[in-house]
Amino acid sequence: MKHTVTTLKQQKENGEKITMLTCYDYSTAKLMDEAGAESLLVGDSLGNTMLGYPNTLAVTMEDMIHHCKAVRRGTKDALLVCDLPFMSYQTSVYDAVVNAGRLVKEGGAEAVKLEGGADYAPHIRAITNAQIPVCAHLGLTPQSVNIFGGFKVRGKDETDAFRLVEDAFAVQDAGAFAIVLECVPAELAALLTSLLTVPTIGIGAGNGTDGQVLVYHDMLAIYGGKSPKFAKVFADAGAVMKEGCAAYFRETKDGSFPAPEHSFCIDAELMERLRARYN
Ligand code: KIV
Repeated sequence: MKHTVTTLKQQKENGEKITMLTCYDYSTAKLMDEAGAESLLVGDSLGNTMLGYPNTLAVTMEDMIHHCKAVRRGTKDALLVCDLPFMSYQTSVYDAVVNAGRLVKEGGAEAVKLEGGADYAPHIRAITNAQIPVCAHLGLTPQSVNIFGGFKVRGKDETDAFRLVEDAFAVQDAGAFAIVLECVPAELAALLTSLLTVPTIGIGAGNGTDGQVLVYHDMLAIYGGKSPKFAKVFADAGAVMKEGCAAYFRETKDGSFPAPEHSFCIDAELMERLRARYN
């Protein structure tokens, strides 16, 4: 079944949880789509996970389009959402629409995601008016790392909690089809989920949201870095990959790889003639 912004909304209405995972390349997209992903996010977290940056600020539109195109080719049923990277929409509403359009036209995205609340309502409205669905992202917004002075849980004090609620209403009113809530206290995320008509997708926001998203490097333990507290490791793929590589190196060194079943044959008589001529 093809998942769309409409089916996600229906899932909220039916009380059926929404699943989303980050994805950055063709083969992983194919695997996740076949595993039943309802939504794949080409997150600007690719700056950390794929490009080795300390944060997402250096990620460019070209990076996002490059990875989105690859994920597009591997995705059949999942809704494909792509992040607008830092400085691709903060500069103006015009830039926001143009760059959202590029993610759809060049990257093959079906929706875009941007970080920010009421201040970005005009951007969300304009992109949505251009017929591109927008997922908003509130709470810990990694593109604001320098304003917040680090990666911290949001909405814990009174001012921040009220601001978060107002921001959520503002982006919903502006036309956002869903809201990612990152690192928000579970009770607050659950309250927001009950107040909003659009689905909430949590990451570090407890289990009272309409859905969950994780960075797959965290939940498959692939990323060498420290996993965040909220990211459960569902499979230790990192250890399996490391052991696979080490076994290949061992068997290559000791000559047991490649074995006959990994090799191609030639006619024995032809080999004889070759040996006779060149030996
Ligand atoms: O870039 C990303 O991976 C994200 C998720 C953390 C939601 O925005």
